[in-house]
Amino acid sequence: MKFSQKSISAKLPKTPMLVVFAAKGAKPVLPEGVAVPKAALEDFTGKARTSRATDASKGDARQVLLVGLGTGAEINAETFRRAAAIATQAAEAAKCKGVTFHVDDATAGLAGGPAEVAQAVAEGARMGHYRYDLGKSSPESRSLESITLLGNGSDFKKGAARGVALAEANLFTRDLQNLAGNQLTPSILADHARSIAKKSPKIACKVIDEAGMKRLGMGLLLGVSAGSIEPAKLIHLTYKPKGKSKGKIALVGKGLTFDAGGISLKPGRGMEEMRYDMSGSAAVLGAFEALTKLDVPYEVHGIVPSSENMPDAEATKPGDVHTAMNGTTVEIINTDAEGRLILADALCYTVSKVKPDTIIDLATLTGAVIMALGHEMSAIYPTSDSLRGDLLAAGERCGESVWPMPIHPAFKENMSAGPADLRNICTPNMGGGSIAGASFLQNFVGDTEWCHIDIAGTAWNQGPRDYTGGIGGTGVGTRLLIEYLSR
Ligand code: BES
Ligand code: MN
Ligand code: ZN
Repeated sequence: MKFSQKSISAKLPKTPMLVVFAAKGAKPVLPEGVAVPKAALEDFTGKARTSRATDASKGDARQVLLVGLGTGAEINAETFRRAAAIATQAAEAAKCKGVTFHVDDATAGLAGGPAEVAQAVAEGARMGHYRYDLGKSSPESRSLESITLLGNGSDFKKGAARGVALAEANLFTRDLQNLAGNQLTPSILADHARSIAKKSPKIACKVIDEAGMKRLGMGLLLGVSAGSIEPAKLIHLTYKPKGKSKGKIALVGKGLTFDAGGISLKPGRGMEEMRYDMSGSAAVLGAFEALTKLDVPYEVHGIVPSSENMPDAEATKPGDVHTAMNGTTVEIINTDAEGRLILADALCYTVSKVKPDTIIDLATLTGAVIMALGHEMSAIYPTSDSLRGDLLAAGERCGESVWPMPIHPAFKENMSAGPADLRNICTPNMGGGSIAGASFLQNFVGDTEWCHIDIAGTAWNQGPRDYTGGIGGTGVGTRLLIEYLSR
């Protein structure tokens, strides 16, 4: 997709479809020289998520699409993201080769101003046009080739460029998520990480193989991988900012390229969805994809433990005891609680080798988080008020909602009561499955500021949101992380 940004000049560039936004009850303001039939203006209500297409009666736009934003007071960046997605879908349906968005200062003023609105429109327009077609032998061809944003000022221009980078990173994440388990193994995931690093002199990539993991004492990661013929990989990406770094942040992502459950085998129904169990790692790689284009003032580390979880003669058995990189012994009661195991070793590695100021991990860790928060909010477990505030604000800005959850000491007590230092699940079960997962992980971060994000509910199967949702990965986490790193 070709993107361009132009200022609003007297002469509108020729376009197959011109998009104009307007609030409920407001008359759409068309650019100089463009007119539409009176009937179109009469039909258009401005109600959110509605649109009215018409041929232009005057001017260089072949078609004009009026898109509603809803009630003035309720309009925000998310409104524009969704409205722009509706517009590119309409442009594609009408087989247009190009679409032009007209965002004058008054329109930008309906939400956060030119920077925020340009970003939201670019994001929504691009994300809304996404279709996963890497699985098709001959993908259906698509009409839309270019998106143009018309708006004034350097803030608008910067916002648009940022929106394009974030949208493309989101699509990168979704493509990784949607690949099948045999199409994206830990080795292939590591290749993707290497090619991200090749794109930018600011990013380096190191991949630790199973021999390296043995030397480091990563018994938990190796224990999960033992039942698979695919070798595990530990990916370590490093981004160094141009100027002086404002601090060091580590992003850790669960990279289970397929989770069959291991010897604690999952039921067959729906098991194919466990291709998405690498969504945390996809979010981290997507954030680095965005870092190839954006300037972020922090040193950022991306650490991805990647493995399959399969049943086999050599697989870890329920009751087996393995030792983490920091010496903690863990009794594996349920081999299907594997995410916390591979993350535990990745967190040990992060704390001892990277020594960051802050760690954020993202993982499709528990089905239980869906009981707690459903599919529209990710659970966050921040260890500080400032991290909680920053992540809530980042979620608000990008439309990826998060909600804070507590960790209670009773979970750790329960998991410490067995023959090893820890058990990987609570026995007896005490409910609160997502909290149990977070509590387990906390044993491996020491006193580093940290937030675990359980994205099992939000990584796929979300409700329709015009620019994402429905079947397939949502790319959740990537834009959230970049928004967090940018302010
Ligand atoms: N990858 C799953 C979590 C999951 C389940 C994500 C369903 C999305 C939908 C994870 O590895 C897992 O199997 N967790 C278990 C933990 C249990 C054994 C304590 C779960 O949630 O059932
Ligand atoms: Mn599992
Ligand atoms: Zn899993």
